Amino acid sequence: MPNTLRLTPDENGIAQAAALLKAGGLVAFPTETVYGLGGDARQDASVLGIYAAKGRPAHNPLIIHVADLEMARRYAIFDAQAEALAQAFWPGPLTLVLPLREDAGLSHHVTAGNRTLAIRVPAHPLARALLRAADLPLAGPSANPSGRVSPTTADHVLEGLSGRIAAVLDGGPCAVGVESTILAPGNPPRLLRPGGIGPEAIAALLDAQITRPADAALPEAPGQLASHYAPNALVRLNATTVEACEIWVGFGPDCQAAQLSLSERGDLDEAASRLFDLLRRADQLAGPLGRIAIAPIPQHGIGLAINDRLNRAAAPRD
Ligand code: TXA
Ligand code: MG
Repeated sequence: MPNTLRLTPDENGIAQAAALLKAGGLVAFPTETVYGLGGDARQDASVLGIYAAKGRPAHNPLIIHVADLEMARRYAIFDAQAEALAQAFWPGPLTLVLPLREDAGLSHHVTAGNRTLAIRVPAHPLARALLRAADLPLAGPSANPSGRVSPTTADHVLEGLSGRIAAVLDGGPCAVGVESTILAPGNPPRLLRPGGIGPEAIAALLDAQITRPADAALPEAPGQLASHYAPNALVRLNATTVEACEIWVGFGPDCQAAQLSLSERGDLDEAASRLFDLLRRADQLAGPLGRIAIAPIPQHGIGLAINDRLNRAAAPRD
C-alpha cells in the first residue's frame, strides 16, 4: 500500500475520507474518545482489512459508528431501556451491545459471528461530518495495532499503522482520551468495559444497579483480554514513591518529584485526556530497561476507565 495520507479537518479532507471509505478503503478518524480505524461495515473486504491492519484476532468483534439514533435502529433492536440510554447519552462515549437485526446487512465479520452488535453515535464534529458524508455504518476499532496503546492523535495513528491504511483524518487530540463505556442493557444492565461515561451517571438515569461481570476466561467483550494497552516498558501501579530506573507518572499535587503528571491538580477528566499520550512518552523516556511507575488514581467516574486501562498495561504478558 502507498504511504498513508494525512487529511485536513475541512470539507476537502472529509470529502476525500468519505470517497476512500465508499471505495472500500480504510481511514482512521478522530472521535471524542480515541481515533477509530474506519471501514465500511457492510463490505467484507473492508472489515477483513481492519482485522489485518491491526493484527486483531478474528474472534474479537468491532463497534460500529452511525450518524444518529434513527440510523442505529436499522442495525440493532432497541427496547425501552436501550432507547432511554441512547436518548440520554448519544451522541457521546457510550457503546450499547444490542440484538443484531437480521436484516442489518452488515458483514458478519463485524460481529465475529455473534448475534449482538456493539453500536455508538460519536460526538466528535469531524466523526459526525464524516458519517454524514460517507452515509455508511463505519466499523471502527481503536486505530492501533492490537494489544498496543490506543491513539489519541493522528501522529499516534501513523506511528502504529502508517503504510497499512489509506488515510488518517487529522482532527488534533481527542478530548475524552479513553474509549467508550460498553454497556449491555438488561436487568440488571451489565458494564462490559468502563469508559468515557461513568457508571454512576448510567445507574442514575436507569435508577438501577449496574453489574460488572468479573473477568472470565472467555470475557464477554472479547477485547478485554488481560494484557492490553501495553507499552514496551514494564508498568508498576499505585506508586507513591519512585525507584531508580523508573519514570514516575504522577496524579495530584502530592507527586512533586514525578517527571510526568496525568493531572497536577488531580482532575480525572484531564488525566483521562492525557493518559495514552503520557504512557507513550513515559515509554520513550524509560528506554528498553526502564520501568513506568504510576501514582494511584481514584476509583470513580472516568477514574474506573483509567484504572482499567492501567491494570491491563501492567498485566503479565505472554
Ligand atoms: O471509544 C471507542 O469505543 C473506540 C472509538 C474508536 O469508537 N472504539 C473502540 O473499539 O474502543 P475497540 O475495537 O478497540 O474496542 C471494542 C470493544 C472490544 O473489547 C470488543 O471485544 C467489544 O468492544 N465488542 C465489540 N462487539 C461486541 C459485542 N457484540 N459484544 C460484546 N463486546 C463487543
Ligand atoms: Mg482498542
